[in-house]
Amino acid sequence: MIDFDEVEKITLSHYENNAESFWQGTRDHDVSQNIDAFLQALSKDKPLDILDFGCGPGRDIHTFKSLGHNPIGLDGSKIFCEMAKKHSGCTVLHQSFSKLELEVNSFDGVFANASLFHVPGHELLKVLKQLHNALRTGGVLFCSNPRGDIEGWQGQRYGHYMEIKSSQVYLEKAGFKVLHHYYRPEGQPREKQNWLAIISEKLPVEA
Ligand SMILES: C[S@@+](CC[C@H](N)C(=O)[O-])C[C@H]1O[C@@H](n2cnc3c(N)ncnc32)[C@H](O)[C@@H]1O
Repeated sequence: MIDFDEVEKITLSHYENNAESFWQGTRDHDVSQNIDAFLQALSKDKPLDILDFGCGPGRDIHTFKSLGHNPIGLDGSKIFCEMAKKHSGCTVLHQSFSKLELEVNSFDGVFANASLFHVPGHELLKVLKQLHNALRTGGVLFCSNPRGDIEGWQGQRYGHYMEIKSSQVYLEKAGFKVLHHYYRPEGQPREKQNWLAIISEKLPVEA
């Protein structure tokens, strides 16, 4: 079984070594479809406590803040944490997915854009349960991941790609209800839509 510490060390080094080019290459990505889908599933009448899970250099925390919400970021790359703090002025937690320390019931929503697929399959349920604990009841988890049915190294980054059925099994086991899903980029034929976005809701924990 692949070692999570090893996966993290190599994957995070890759991001750290390419931090500036990653920022330049992704800062103008249009992820409004994902942000809108996430926010539409949440309450409209109050500022929301949002965790941007694997926030990278901070493009989306900046957007959430400019929309009047209270986002905080989390990333395992120290360089990305510093960039995200600088770009957004928000708190950014330097934590790795294997050693999360999140406050229970503290977020209305978790936005995991292009990040959860870096968690190996055998560790995914544990991470999803931690996100479930960190959400308030009725809270929303958004995730967008490359789709497919493979797990392993893609160059220096580890990736676990799933289709909707397998993703749903993990999410339901962790206590989420899948509300809906869609494929990206918008307007392309399905074979060119390499990304799967899923909106899930935290179900109440049974006593
Ligand atoms: C593809 S980038 C996505 C960044 C950002 N969410 C975006 O949409 O541009 C994946 C992010 O996950 C972070 N990441 C990957 N594996 C991680 C791990 N094991 N622990 C913490 N962060 C991790 C990387 O540092 C990187 O910022």
